Amino acid sequence: MITVAEFARRRRELMRMAGADAALVVAAAPQRMRNADAAWPYRQDSDFHYLTGFPEPDAVLALLPGRARGEVVLFCRERDPQRERLDGPRIGPDAAAARFALDDAFPVEDIDDILPGMLEGRARLYCHFGRENEFDAQLLRWMRRLRSSRGGSVVPREFVALGHLLHELRLYKSPAELALMRRAAKVAADAQLAALRAARPGAAEYEVEAALLHALRAHGAVPSYPPTVAAGANACVLHYTANRGKLARGDLLLIDAGAEIECYASDVTRTWPVGGNYPRERRALYEVVLEAQLAAIDEVRAGRAFTAAHDTATRVIVAGLCALKLLPGSPRAALESGGYQRFFPHKTGHWIGLDVHDVGDYRVDDEPRMLEPGMVVTVEPGIYIAPDDTSVPAKWRGLGIRIEDDVAVTARGQEVLTAALPKDVATVEALVN
Ligand code: GLY
Ligand code: MN
Ligand code: MN
Repeated sequence: MITVAEFARRRRELMRMAGADAALVVAAAPQRMRNADAAWPYRQDSDFHYLTGFPEPDAVLALLPGRARGEVVLFCRERDPQRERLDGPRIGPDAAAARFALDDAFPVEDIDDILPGMLEGRARLYCHFGRENEFDAQLLRWMRRLRSSRGGSVVPREFVALGHLLHELRLYKSPAELALMRRAAKVAADAQLAALRAARPGAAEYEVEAALLHALRAHGAVPSYPPTVAAGANACVLHYTANRGKLARGDLLLIDAGAEIECYASDVTRTWPVGGNYPRERRALYEVVLEAQLAAIDEVRAGRAFTAAHDTATRVIVAGLCALKLLPGSPRAALESGGYQRFFPHKTGHWIGLDVHDVGDYRVDDEPRMLEPGMVVTVEPGIYIAPDDTSVPAKWRGLGIRIEDDVAVTARGQEVLTAALPKDVATVEALVN
């Protein structure tokens, strides 16, 4: 759990970074409609959540460093018994300030009258532009209000993209964040095992998905992204989510599924054999991916470049593909030509946190970023061979293998948050059998 005190610490740190003459404005995610009166499940905006923990739509946070009458101001929906009968309870401005340790809270209907005055005289305004049309329009409206009220001199001189400061903060996970991510990892691991139990020859991919979702929801989690449950050649589609195919004995089954707990994500992939042991060729490829993944995890250390894991995984995969004669010539030549990208077309990982593909710059001063304690990455090399790839003998075709874990950089090395989920061949085959 993230405490109210930790949310407050984040706001203070962000205000310190922005400076005493700045203002910062962050909006909640809007409620999005699926069609007619049916809404998509609500998920708070990650930045807004990071700074408030406030769970409702139609809210705006204003941070006003040094403001005598309160630095931290929330605008949110008022209580409304009739609407609350339909949609559930609202917190309301009166309760919000105390419950979330804010200095003040106002009805969001009044924001156009109140917020412009709060921005008056601030040198810089930090916010997100170009994300939400409604927010962009609101921002311009507030500026027009300011201009018309006092003759134009009080509008902030600079508008600054908020992400540069805020996403730098989000990149370093606190002990409480890591604890939530460990839980999200554990739930995803349990869900993979539940899915594996449903992965019998003849089953449909959606039956396996159902077991997976059941396990996630049984822990109070939601999927952190639409799960991929891909048997055989379906796994060649990297973001496959149709999950309508059938499992056949001897297929590989790629399951890429994550849990989200209190807005924190996990992102886990395993590639299981259906109905028994890994068939020979598939096992050989699986072992290449596993070797690449283990070598790449070893590169996740403070002081190593973010790119080191990918470089290492690529070297191992290319060497393996050459040894199996799936790539012609020497590993060096294959690395240089880039011909291996047909089989390994993606990068080895990404930041993970509140977002599955989390925020934070991957390059600093045009150099790959160095890893530091508190950063969390995924490590997910893969090999994919299309069903119609006639450049390789037929026995290799129509499969996708990926192994993905979430790995936190620690002071002394790394912590594999998803380590509970087996991936070595002997343990996996024992589980399946
Ligand atoms: N599940 C999305 C990814 O692995 O990046
Ligand atoms: Mn991933
Ligand atoms: Mn994934």
